[in-house]
Amino acid sequence: MSESTSQPSNESVTITVGADGPLEVSGPVEIIAADGTVLRETSKAYLCRCGHSANKPFCAGAHKREGFVDAGLGG
Ligand code: FES
Repeated sequence: MSESTSQPSNESVTITVGADGPLEVSGPVEIIAADGTVLRETSKAYLCRCGHSANKPFCAGAHKREGFVDAGLGG
């Protein structure tokens, strides 16, 4: 298991809700599993919000096959 030991960056992180698709995360981020394992250190990631990905928490494209619909406008 690899646990995160780095300090938070001062660079901004943006999360964009995609229409009918994943959350796009832009910026220096670590994506950490429930057990503390660092799954990915990256500056861009797509996170599943449809619940159908076979590679959670990452988007695997299943939202298209499953017909996930959400305008991504909040509310
Ligand atoms: S949002 Fe793409 S697989 Fe769920």
